[in-house]
Amino acid sequence: MTGAREALAWWQGAVVYQIYPRSYCLADPSGRRARLALGAGSPPDRVRDGAGDLEGIRRHLDHVAELGADAIWLSPIYPSPMADFGYDVADYCGIDPLFGDLDTFDALLADAHDRSIRVLLDWVPNHTSDRHPWFEDARRSRTSAHRDWYVWRDPDPLDPARPPNNWKRAFGEGPAWTFDELTGQWYLHLFLPEQPDLNWATPEVVEAMEGVLDFWLARGVDGFRIDVVHGLGKPPELDDVPDAQADIPYSALNDHDSTHPILRRLRAHVDRWPQQPLLVGEVFLIDAGKVAKYYGNGDELHLAFNFAPMFSPFSGVSFRRRLEEIEATLGPVDAWPTWVLSNHDRPRHRTRFGGSERRARAAAVLSIGMRGTVFLYAGEELGLEDTEIPDELAVDPGGRDGCRAPIPWDASAEHGWALGGSEAWLPFAPNATTLNVANEARDDSSVLALYQRLIEFRRRSSALFDGDLQLLEAGPEEVLAFRRGRREKAFAEAGEGEVVVLVNFSDVEQPVDEALSGPWVVEVGSGGEGSLTTEHELFAGRLGPEEAVILRRPDRGAR
Ligand code: NOJ
Repeated sequence: MTGAREALAWWQGAVVYQIYPRSYCLADPSGRRARLALGAGSPPDRVRDGAGDLEGIRRHLDHVAELGADAIWLSPIYPSPMADFGYDVADYCGIDPLFGDLDTFDALLADAHDRSIRVLLDWVPNHTSDRHPWFEDARRSRTSAHRDWYVWRDPDPLDPARPPNNWKRAFGEGPAWTFDELTGQWYLHLFLPEQPDLNWATPEVVEAMEGVLDFWLARGVDGFRIDVVHGLGKPPELDDVPDAQADIPYSALNDHDSTHPILRRLRAHVDRWPQQPLLVGEVFLIDAGKVAKYYGNGDELHLAFNFAPMFSPFSGVSFRRRLEEIEATLGPVDAWPTWVLSNHDRPRHRTRFGGSERRARAAAVLSIGMRGTVFLYAGEELGLEDTEIPDELAVDPGGRDGCRAPIPWDASAEHGWALGGSEAWLPFAPNATTLNVANEARDDSSVLALYQRLIEFRRRSSALFDGDLQLLEAGPEEVLAFRRGRREKAFAEAGEGEVVVLVNFSDVEQPVDEALSGPWVVEVGSGGEGSLTTEHELFAGRLGPEEAVILRRPDRGAR
């Protein structure tokens, strides 16, 4: 367990940068051609084919390094019919030609490691594509070798058109079941009919999936983000959910004890690898108490996403509650928190918070100041908003196109994408002629420059990196204030400075000095319009509207 603890320690203060490969950068158009030539593997007709690729990610690793991120997480890059843009996997041990091939992947991994950037893959164990050979075999006959790898139920003889239970699928209005005409049974899918659920009660599924993990670990990946991990163990009786929950997609409800032994086994499996891979799980249950169980006794997930903040308004009261909840729930069980404000499934937080740059800046300070591993969604460091997608270009079955708009690398017409005059798969993020990497990299007052300063300070400050968190009473309710540092004396004596994070969620100036004793220096400030503070100068006890700062003691720089 000691090795595992040390491994986790590396990730505790880490900033993980999520890349949605279709939307990052297209560098090598030959992948697109290769994919089109495959015919059956080509993107659904409705989708324009200018999607990003692995070479585009590889060429922009310096951006990740300059941002200061410690790791990247790649959303799925495996061969896929793209019904759910890669979360419908047709081969767990390959690369979709759209993105490149295994050689391109190995080059990307090596170049990332050269920059000390770790790489997490997105592993999708709850379901496959309906075009995965396992499912193609399973649906061939009731006696197929892979039949039990999926979840099948007989129709009710009295009402054959009624699905086996009242579970609702995610995306669209339908049931979580599709009737398979050929073999006369229903199969389960918590998501699209093109994403049949695997049956993790079948030992061969577990073994095959362990083989998948080994395949990537042998190539040198540093861990996995696990999709819908709380979905793996299903209640064997597959009973109806209570009527009051029948409209909620079942993927947000499944929370069965049988998942935990599976997770313990997977954890023991990956712990044998010398790189001590990280397992971070998507436990989409929102309730912190339920999510905490998936850490086990330090023998299941290393980390689980804490999604409640993605549903919180821009409000001091709300974020204070989020913090109290996480500290109270995870603290006692020694589970390390995560913070995520945006990802590929939700509108970007700048958009959710109303669109102002000032709020995007304050949110940057908030997230980097948190106690926990921080996950940033590519584009957030540029202050990007969602794109409004016209109906005729909408492609996602879950309505999530807006936050997947391609990243603009420069102000040119193709924004640094090798489109050769064709169109990107979705329209670019808004204001791409100003909000793009090249522009922001030249501008000390950009959102990108703010993220760089914040992450650089987080690395230097052990208080911020993995120190404790203590909420402070800052007077006005809309000012969130917390202290980061060690409670034990030894830490202070070792010269590790404490820091204070202040976020004014209100749109008026606020006094905050009662919350603080003694002089403080502004180490990083969100700045922007109406700011009342200057970095590296004494804090005067007031914050401008929607302004946020990280303060340190004047006598010691952070160590
Ligand atoms: C969660 C992923 O984040 C989402 O994008 C996907 O559609 C579902 N799981 C199904 O795999």
